[in-house]
Amino acid sequence: MTIRPILIHPDPRLKTVTDPVSDISDEIRALGADMLETMYDAPGIGLAAPQVGVLSRVLVMDCVKEEGAAPRPMVLINPQIIASSEETNVYEEGCLSIPEQYGEVTRPAEVEVRWLGLDGKEHTQGFDGLWATCVQHEIDHLDGKLFIDYLKPLRRQMITRKMQKLKRERARA
Ligand code: NI
Repeated sequence: MTIRPILIHPDPRLKTVTDPVSDISDEIRALGADMLETMYDAPGIGLAAPQVGVLSRVLVMDCVKEEGAAPRPMVLINPQIIASSEETNVYEEGCLSIPEQYGEVTRPAEVEVRWLGLDGKEHTQGFDGLWATCVQHEIDHLDGKLFIDYLKPLRRQMITRKMQKLKRERARA
């Protein structure tokens, strides 16, 4: 497993609608393993393939937060939201591609998601709480959408300028 570099916003690859995965190849299995490793290392609770520069519909997540609880790594290929609750939840979201910036985003409180697993089988599962927010945030990434797209334009521009500055500083270091 390899920790892959995480792209920082703004980057055209983070604004791209990604392609469906046609079959579970060794390459996709390696991508899933690397993405989990990269996410845990960050540390984060979710990561989408475009964040490591791969424009395919793959995301990983593990929203188990309790200290000492067993990890629950998930790899979702071609995930689709097939039902959303009317009830909404507001979470202060962040993103590994937008480090140290946070903003409140309102999303459906519960979603039902269908995806292809690394086992080649189709899975359907309902998510709520943090898991629901996380899976929606990551699926947005696969459609070139970031959580800051839900914020007011001024706030979004301010965050984007901060990230441009961060990238310049990192390039110089
Ligand atoms: Ni993100």
